[in-house]
Amino acid sequence: MNKTLIWDLPTRLFHWLLVASIFAQYATAEWLDDAVQWHFYIGYFTLFLIVFRVLWGVVGTEHAKFSNFVKGPKAVVTYISTLFDKHSTSSVGHNPLGGWFVVVMLILVGVQGISGLFMTDDIFLDGPYRSMADESTIELMSSLHHLAFDALLYVIGLHILAIVFYAVYKKQKLVPAMVHGKKETSSPSIGHSRIRLAIIVAIVAAALVYVAIEVYPPSSDVGEYYYY
Ligand code: HEM
Ligand code: HEM
Repeated sequence: MNKTLIWDLPTRLFHWLLVASIFAQYATAEWLDDAVQWHFYIGYFTLFLIVFRVLWGVVGTEHAKFSNFVKGPKAVVTYISTLFDKHSTSSVGHNPLGGWFVVVMLILVGVQGISGLFMTDDIFLDGPYRSMADESTIELMSSLHHLAFDALLYVIGLHILAIVFYAVYKKQKLVPAMVHGKKETSSPSIGHSRIRLAIIVAIVAAALVYVAIEVYPPSSDVGEYYYY
């Protein structure tokens, strides 16, 4: 079996930038003083990552596409029945169960980012949608911002446990492939990472996030009174 390119560079970059962003979001909200402005900026960047990944899940390379890894209940149940079989063949891309984990993680981070747009630090800074929203929406978004993060922590914990389970129990090391993109498999390679297409998708994702946070809200004076 040959080492074959399975995860394109944009998907790998997305993954590790997402990990760094979530960590930075926790740090800027919980550990660091006076870091809320950074929390906003990194939150916008995280939203960009999610929009990018959703678009890449439609137009990207084979194993990055949702159509490749979002499977119906039958495939998931069949996969679960072989979960503890040490000799079951390893999946080339995401397995049918892991595929749903990916969807859940993307949704939770998306909810986290969108709800953040309605938050305030109660001192200087309001998210760009706060002034547009009524009290009940603000309350809902604030609860979501707290709850979605707690849920995310559980899902990330399970994600990491699953990776340890595959490495220790099933002797399948998944992490190196998320770093260099290659797996030992007889399945065909994706060929190349389609970097030029990824750049176009990234520009579209950045434009969408820019419109959502700077153009669409009636007053985009976030931080104005912070500086003056
Ligand atoms: C903040 C923490 C994390 C989040 C939110 C997260 C999220 C994700 C997401 C969304 C994917 C799907 C990638 C894609 O198709 O775009 C994924 C896959 C993956 N992640 Fe993470 N991840 C986190 C931490 C980690 C850590 C710490 C490791 C390594 C120890 C890791 C290893 C992997 C691996 C190996 C895959 C591919 C799994 C497979 O082969 O199906 N992740 N992760
Ligand atoms: C998308 C990734 C994001 C993550 C992972 C994240 C995470 C968090 C966490 C963990 C907290 C602390 C919650 C608690 O104490 O229970 C928090 C608070 C907060 N977040 Fe986010 N957030 C994100 C995006 C955003 C965005 C886009 C904004 C605004 C534009 C925002 C604004 C806030 C504010 C104002 C607080 C309260 C800070 C304070 O108490 O002083 N967040 N966030």
